[in-house]
Amino acid sequence: MKKILITGAVGAIGCHLSRHLLTDSENQLVLVDNLQRGKIDNDFSELLKNGRVKFIEADLTEPEFYKTLDNDFDQVYHLAAVNGTKLFYQMPQEVLRVNTLTLIYILEWIRGLVKKPKLCFTSSNEAYAGALASFNQLQIPTPENVPLVISDTYNARWSYASTKLIGELFVIHYAKAYNFPAVIVRPHNFYGPRSGYDHVIPEFIDRIFKKIDPFPVFGSDDTRTFCYLPDAVRGMQMLMDSEKTNNQPIETVHIGATDEILMLDLLKKLFNIIGWEPKKLDIQSSPAGSVKRRLADITKIKNLVGWEPETSLDDGLKKTIEWYKNNPKK
Ligand SMILES: NC(=O)c1ccc[n+]([C@@H]2O[C@H](COP(=O)([O-])OP(=O)(O)OC[C@H]3O[C@@H](n4cnc5c(N)ncnc54)[C@H](O)[C@@H]3O)[C@@H](O)[C@H]2O)c1
Repeated sequence: MKKILITGAVGAIGCHLSRHLLTDSENQLVLVDNLQRGKIDNDFSELLKNGRVKFIEADLTEPEFYKTLDNDFDQVYHLAAVNGTKLFYQMPQEVLRVNTLTLIYILEWIRGLVKKPKLCFTSSNEAYAGALASFNQLQIPTPENVPLVISDTYNARWSYASTKLIGELFVIHYAKAYNFPAVIVRPHNFYGPRSGYDHVIPEFIDRIFKKIDPFPVFGSDDTRTFCYLPDAVRGMQMLMDSEKTNNQPIETVHIGATDEILMLDLLKKLFNIIGWEPKKLDIQSSPAGSVKRRLADITKIKNLVGWEPETSLDDGLKKTIEWYKNNPKK
């Protein structure tokens, strides 16, 4: 039996990860979330029916909570964070407080345990996005050892990236000082069913369902990659279960897809699958600070655990559209 704690489990990655981990009948899950962003919807309620799942509604910025947690976990996936670009601008002070405090408390809790679990910390590609903004230079595909840069401390956008930057340092140096295994994962544009309503794919799908015409498109000649969530969480689990990631110094690993697509071509694919297109596109420039290309180098995860994305963009989009058709934005 393997006992696993997932923080921020009601969110996009947490729900897919929990579902994936439950396919191994040896796994027993404790899921924690304060429901700041995640919602107990039908998908999450389904998970709770499983006898190997325990859900705790709690705020991980409360130090008292850690005294109530079990002390015999084998693994911890720390996903809880204030996430979502709009929130970086609306309440950067909360992004800084919650993301940093929850990580420090998790690390301090692990430090005090006799049996120390292996930790997975989700950083972000945002932690290196500033390298491009500041120096107009970023290796593509981007490897893990790229410099992490905060371009402007006064711009609220960088509040989130800064918590991931400092977070990576905390995890690396706590794991070394207190000798526990850990992995840092940098997710690159995960998408799929139940992945919120304010990422590019759900937003495009919502506008297509609403038949908005002229149809606004920002940064139509930017390219991106999109990694299907069930593939992505399998990569996280493979890293956590591998003995190759048990050593010091710990590994930082990019997870993402490699087939780049123009935003305009992504949109055309969605029009095609859904079977509707507008008479006119309202093409607008990318939001300020947006990156022309974002492409992760995934050589490291391939070499470490043999992971690669398996789901084609077409198949992933079809399943994603199906989910959003049944669960439209309210
Ligand atoms: N989805 C992506 O493509 C992506 C990309 C880069 C990084 N990440 C990182 O991966 C992690 C998970 O991302 P996600 O997309 O599932 O985000 P999400 O916002 O869907 O999930 C985060 C969850 O954390 C919970 N939470 C927030 N504050 C909390 C607190 N104080 N106590 C307990 N729970 C709290 C929220 O309610 C939410 O359910 C985050 O750390 C995020 O920064 C995700």
